[in-house]
Amino acid sequence: LWTASSIIDDSIHAVRAKVGSDHVILGLSGGVDSSVVAALLHKAIADQLTCVFVDTGLLRLHEGDQVMATFAEHMGVKVIRVNAEQRYLAALNGVADPEQKRKIIGNLFVEIFDDEAGKITDAKWLAQGTIYPDVIESAGSKSGKAHLIKSHHNVGGLPEDMKLKLVEPLRELFKDEVRKIGLELGLPSDMVFRHPFPGPGLGVRILGEVKKTYADLLRQADAIFIEELYNHDLYSKVSQAFAVFLPVKSVGVMGDGRRYDYVIALRAVETIDFMTARWAHLPYDFLDLVSRRIINEVAGISRVTYDISGKPPATIEWE
Ligand code: XMP
Repeated sequence: LWTASSIIDDSIHAVRAKVGSDHVILGLSGGVDSSVVAALLHKAIADQLTCVFVDTGLLRLHEGDQVMATFAEHMGVKVIRVNAEQRYLAALNGVADPEQKRKIIGNLFVEIFDDEAGKITDAKWLAQGTIYPDVIESAGSKSGKAHLIKSHHNVGGLPEDMKLKLVEPLRELFKDEVRKIGLELGLPSDMVFRHPFPGPGLGVRILGEVKKTYADLLRQADAIFIEELYNHDLYSKVSQAFAVFLPVKSVGVMGDGRRYDYVIALRAVETIDFMTARWAHLPYDFLDLVSRRIINEVAGISRVTYDISGKPPATIEWE
């Protein structure tokens, strides 16, 4: 019989049998899969687990603090938070090409993660949030090996000489099962049901060059959009929703003056598999409210647009 608690019990026994008294490292991103692995392993092996959380500075509003609050403060999980915002901004300085941005962000993640993991010299195992769909997907891919390293950036891995063995407790589970387990383990439901977030984070939601000021404006606008989706009971009705920062200026008026400020695009989609998607037909009154709030509350934004492009031909993310 499949129940969340029986799966948890089985996984705990399996993990203990596998790793014994060895130390385990986990890259924690704050996404559903790595979060559930963290909670599960903490329950199974407690202090033998160390999580590495790389705060890229390209996360959503308060996200880094929330990850630390949930895992380190609340659950007592050992988490090393690496504040890498400055390194990311420096590496991305002047780079506008989307593919190059993705490469830089992914490579820097691997570098930073490896550095931190290398300091945990007694670690023998690397835990990963691989789930069953990842296993199937990579079995069909050319290399068949992509599933071996599933960082939240989907690239790279640890240097050969670290010789860490893999522990993947969610390997046989589907996403909805992972969510049930997460809830059973006591993770907050907004974390368990959070929309997907791309590995490169806001780096691919700030079009062109990434700047700290752009990221800060985007974070504020995005938080308002998400907050109102929750308020109107719409968050769980769309598959993914977010704001995008457009580094172009448009004219607006504010009181007696003119403003010449940036543009935010809102994107919300409905999809089953994220391979195709339709734009969510959010109520006009709702969009009106979100637009007004963003323009009134985010100094530096003077115009809000709504993305009405399907996938295909458009992708869900803008870069
Ligand atoms: P696109 O933009 O290709 O996105 O229609 C499909 C889904 O994948 C997410 N996405 C990513 N996830 N690393 C990830 O882990 C990435 O580089 C990445 N790029 C896009 C996107 O948010 C959507 O859910």
